[in-house]
Formats: sequence, C-alpha cells, structure tokens
Amino acid sequence: MRRTWLIAPLIGTILLGGLYSSAVTAQDGGQGAPGLGDPYYPGLGNGGYDALHYTIDLSVDLQTNTIRGTTTIEAQATQALTSFNLDFAGLEISQITVDDTPANYSRDGFELTVTPAIPLEIGETFTTIVSYSGVPTPYADPAVGATPLGWLRLANTIFVVSEPGGAMSWFPSNNHPSDKATYTFKITVPKPLVVAATGVPVDEIDNGDTRTFVSEMTDPMASYLASVSVGDFVRVDETGPDGLLIRNYFPTSHATALTETFSPTSEMIAYFSSIFGPYPFDVYGAVIVNIPFGVALENQTLSLFAADVSGEVTIAHELSHQWFGDSVSPATWQDIWLNEGFATYSEALWIEHNQGQAAALDYLDELYKTIIGNAMGAPATPAADNLFDGQVYLRGGWTLHALRLTVGDDVFFEILRTYYDRFQYANATTADFIAVAEEVSSQSLDEFFQAWLYDATVPEKP
Ligand code: ARG
Ligand code: ZN
Repeated sequence: MRRTWLIAPLIGTILLGGLYSSAVTAQDGGQGAPGLGDPYYPGLGNGGYDALHYTIDLSVDLQTNTIRGTTTIEAQATQALTSFNLDFAGLEISQITVDDTPANYSRDGFELTVTPAIPLEIGETFTTIVSYSGVPTPYADPAVGATPLGWLRLANTIFVVSEPGGAMSWFPSNNHPSDKATYTFKITVPKPLVVAATGVPVDEIDNGDTRTFVSEMTDPMASYLASVSVGDFVRVDETGPDGLLIRNYFPTSHATALTETFSPTSEMIAYFSSIFGPYPFDVYGAVIVNIPFGVALENQTLSLFAADVSGEVTIAHELSHQWFGDSVSPATWQDIWLNEGFATYSEALWIEHNQGQAAALDYLDELYKTIIGNAMGAPATPAADNLFDGQVYLRGGWTLHALRLTVGDDVFFEILRTYYDRFQYANATTADFIAVAEEVSSQSLDEFFQAWLYDATVPEKP
C-alpha cells in the first residue's frame, strides 16, 4: 500500500507540474514503529528508517557530570513517515530539527517521537539534530537485573559501558545492533583532561581553556559499542601488525605498569587475524578506568577495562570481540552467545597459541567442571534479565570446542573463517552460524546444536 503511494505523487509531479506536494504521500505514510521487536527487548530500536551516520558533539564537565551539545543523525526513511522514534532517556532537550526545520517531539520513557514539519518520503535521506544538556541518568538495564549502564561517572572518571541498552543514556539513536551506522565523535573537555573515544583519533582542537577530541568511526558500529571516557589519561601508542595503530589510554599514575600489562595486544591481533581473518578496523587499543568495578567491554576499536579486570585472558577476550560481536554483531540480543561464547573460546585459543595445547585443555576442563557444577542452561536461551550469565559464556564457548572435536581442526577453523568472512560488518543469527557449520562440514549438525545450544541438560564431552 505504501508503494502505491510512492508512485502516485511521482505521476502527479509529472502530470501536474508539482501541484501535489510530497506531503500528500507522507501524510499517508504513518508513524515509524517505536521498537524493532527484539525477542528479548522489543522496545529497543525503532522502525521506519535506517540510521547512516551519527555525529555526537558534546561538551563535558567532569565535576558536575554535565553534558551539553548535539547529536546529528543522518538516516534514510524505509517507509513514508509522518513521525519516527529515537531511543533517548533522560537529559533535557532544547530543540530538534529535521532538515534544518524545527520539529515537534514528545517523550514517553526512553521513546522520543519526532514529528518533522514536512513528512518524509520513502527512500528520503534526512538529518535530525537533537540539542540537549544535563546530567545523564544511568539506564537501569533489565538485561543485567537493572544494573545501571550507559554514561557513568565514578570517582574522577567518566566512561561509557552500554551493552546492551545503555547508549540512550547519552545520545539519541536507533538503539539496536541490527541498525549499525558510522560515527563522528567531537568531545570537548577542559584542559588538561583527556578524551578516549571509539574510532580513529583525527583531530585535537585547542580552544584555549578546552580541547575538542575528534574521532571517526568509518566502519559500521552498533550503538552499544559507542563509547567515550574522560579523565586523567595518558595516551600510549604502539604499532601493531601491518602498521595498525594501537592507541591505549592509561591512567597517568599507572601508565608504566599498564604498558607492560597490555604489551601482548599486538601479538594477539596477529594471531587472531591469522585464524579469523584480517583485524576489522583501522585502529585498536584499550582504555583503563582506574576503578575496580569488575567490568570489561569490547567497545569498537577501544576496549574498556576496569582496573581489576585487565588480565591477559580478559585482554584476549575483549580483543576477539572486535571480530565476534563488533564486526559480526548479533541480529538480536537472544543471539548473545555468538559474542560471548566466541570470546570465551578465543581465550582458550590464545592460551593454546601462547602456552600450548595442554594448557588450553586444562583451561577448558576447568570451564567444563564449572558448567556441570552449576548445571548451566542453554546458551541460546539465556534469561532476559540475566543476559550475560555463565551459560552464555562458558557453555557457549564449550559449544565451539565440542564442534571442533566433532568436525576436526581443519573444518572447524574453516567454519570460523567462513562465518566471519560472510557476516563481517553486519549481523548474524544463531541459524546463520549453524548453516555455515553444516555447509562447510557437509554434515547435518542439527542434533549437535540442539543438544549444545538449546537443551537444558549439559551434553557429555564429545
Ligand atoms: N561484553 C562484555 C564482555 O566482554 C560483557 C559486559 C557485561 N556487562 C554488562 N553490563 N553489559 O564480557
Ligand atoms: Zn565478552
């Protein structure tokens, strides 16, 4: 029906020389859906458009944790739209424009409904600028038992840990990994504070008392992987494989020790590139937040580590997510084992490479004991209020080891490479991975994956 209306005004324009305004079409277009129907978190994301590029331009006051600025969203309408939604929680909006014209808007929880002055036609690209300010409210994410996520300030550091839903605490977006986009970050802070942001650092503008740190993410990124940190950091650069820039941001007081701690990164990149496929992005590095809050997160091109979780295995885990999680992202949040199972198994692969097969098998034996000891459930059906449970990580990781034992090393690594090659810079479902495994191995693996991914009972080791 919408397609009919797409053609009608074109004919009108031709026959009547433009007497039919485009508004005739779009008034019949309707409202973009307020959610994408994710099986676990149906309200995340929005329908009716495809986000293409975000420019997040914010001034940050560390003392008061206040942010002020704009997020510009370039998007393409995938249907005619009289209104569309963004996901944005808290903060005070002073103005929204669509294509330089002020738009009406209303808010209901984290749903921000924007009604452009001129409705949008299907296929039209449009630019929305949201001007806002305030102190970000951490998002009580149901995925992690309402643990607050997103823009956070602890002690004297600001940092962003969003997975899965927290991005909307600091910028308006189509907040679901199925709609990736490119990004520009322009973050202004008083001297001598330093900003660490995802993407390639391209500029540092001296404004007198403040500096604006500009970075560009030219590869598609899911909103949950966008991150900035503000604090007393020193940037330590290193050259990785094939000239890759590794830029780490360490708390100034711990820079020497942390430079040593993170020194295996380059060799890890070389190793994972050799088994998965080329490192996906133009830059890598770590930002370490000098507070022991027990979380690490694979923000795209810039993994974040709390001070208490920067061991070698975690460094390998977050790095491997750049391939599995960031480049190949889950199509829905139910598919989270495609991130965490792969990253957990990558820990064992790094141990195998670095310490030998016996060490890796010991590591995997310990994981299996933990899985059995806790009767861990099915990796592909975690609880929606405990998305990052051990069943996703450990049993998800063991699913890959069991697959390797079932199909043999050559076929297993060919499966990993094929899966990565096929879904890089995009999204995959669990069914996509199973299909690749069956195709590459020329075996029916339905029973295998049913037992490992979906049955409640922990399978025997193959
Ligand atoms: N993806 C992170 C990891 O590498 C998990 C973060 C879990 N916590 C959270 N608040 N999302 O393991
Ligand atoms: Zn992980």
